Amino acid sequence: MELTRLRGFRDLFGADARAMSLVEERARAIAKRYSIREIRIPVLERTQLYLRSTGETTDIVEKQMYTFTDRDEGETLVALRPEGTPGVVRAYIEAGFDRTEPEQRLFYSGPMFRRERPQKGRYRQFYQFGVEVFGRPDAACDAELLIMIDEFCRDLNVPFTMEVNSIGDQKCRPAFREALVKWGRAHWDQLCDDCHNRIDRNPLRLLDCKIDAKLAESAPNSLDSLCDECRAHFGTVKELLSAANVVYKLNPRLVRGLDYYTRTAFEVMAGGLGAQSTVVAGGRYDGLVETMGGSPVAGIGFAIGVDRMALAVEAALALPGAAPDAVIISIGAAATSRAVEIARDLRAANISVEMLSPERKMKTLLARASKIGARFAVIIGDDELTRGVVQLRDLKESAQQEVTVDNAVEIMKRARSG
Ligand code: HAM
Repeated sequence: MELTRLRGFRDLFGADARAMSLVEERARAIAKRYSIREIRIPVLERTQLYLRSTGETTDIVEKQMYTFTDRDEGETLVALRPEGTPGVVRAYIEAGFDRTEPEQRLFYSGPMFRRERPQKGRYRQFYQFGVEVFGRPDAACDAELLIMIDEFCRDLNVPFTMEVNSIGDQKCRPAFREALVKWGRAHWDQLCDDCHNRIDRNPLRLLDCKIDAKLAESAPNSLDSLCDECRAHFGTVKELLSAANVVYKLNPRLVRGLDYYTRTAFEVMAGGLGAQSTVVAGGRYDGLVETMGGSPVAGIGFAIGVDRMALAVEAALALPGAAPDAVIISIGAAATSRAVEIARDLRAANISVEMLSPERKMKTLLARASKIGARFAVIIGDDELTRGVVQLRDLKESAQQEVTVDNAVEIMKRARSG
């Protein structure tokens, strides 16, 4: 077939699709418990938005954006969103929140697009569940979000490690950058071509070099260059995490691939995912709202990689099946119209049912019921209709009894909990 899907884009069925939904549902539930409200933002934005926020020298902007010229008069350059943070910040400023109600706690959920080299856990369309909190410069907010992530991973039963670092702010970062450039020049011959390019443009990324991780161990680390304010802020974050019994690892060489971060940065890794093990990542971005034209308001957030978290969940949990509780089989026109009512009543009682075609043979219908894993078949013909009953067949036990619809509901509920 010529009309196949594009490389790096996925169709998801069955357990894979269910695991994605489960991650999103649990994330929504936990966001509610943390008083975080939903925001929906566009998938398409001006390319300029990402140049200004994600950063011109980042891999995302340099190599990975799906960007094209729109057909409007101004030939606007637009891009499919590679991440959610810039769009949320833009929406926040555009709604005037930075001036009227700076304190906002927002979450978003949906697809992002990056033209990366596809592999397990890395796709060109992937899903993020992200949280952004504005107007909270205090360390307690950093800790609260990290506690939330810890709770989320536990809730999903996924074994994980959390790494945290502080990469300083506008005041102390220049010293760290300088130390890295100096170190890079001293080790020039050992660095890869990518790192040669990064050295002046984005020296923090020298620590991300995948070619020689050992070498990076001799590089300067961010904690050594922190100013007093950043050090105190990070100290409080660590204290609060310990007070909440959150287990984390200090990684002074953790830097993020996006430009807007200040102070606290973090990543959460799950086991069993191979090279693409980072399932949650984020940090503080105190200067970003102002850089993008708003008032100076603090920001902090993170994004869950839903696809990767779903892979981890599938490995960790036996997902509940998608099988319905019952099928309904009707014989004859009058019985079929009663069957429609019964289906409605069963669904209202939270019993999942699939109505089968009244035009097929009983044998075919029972084969369908067993294929989709239904435990029961509710069967109704003219005879049952006149007597106000149904035949309830337990497909697992191969037993059948005549019952009222109310009785059938009771039996099916009991079977589910037993
Ligand atoms: P990020 O580290 O670029 O940060 O992405 C966050 C997470 O999205 C990653 O840890 C990973 O789980 C997932 N992810 C990224 N790229 C892919 C891909 N190609 N395929 C599958 N999963 C992927 C951000 O995007 C920031 N906006 C996070 C943030 C929010 N920081 C502050 N607020």
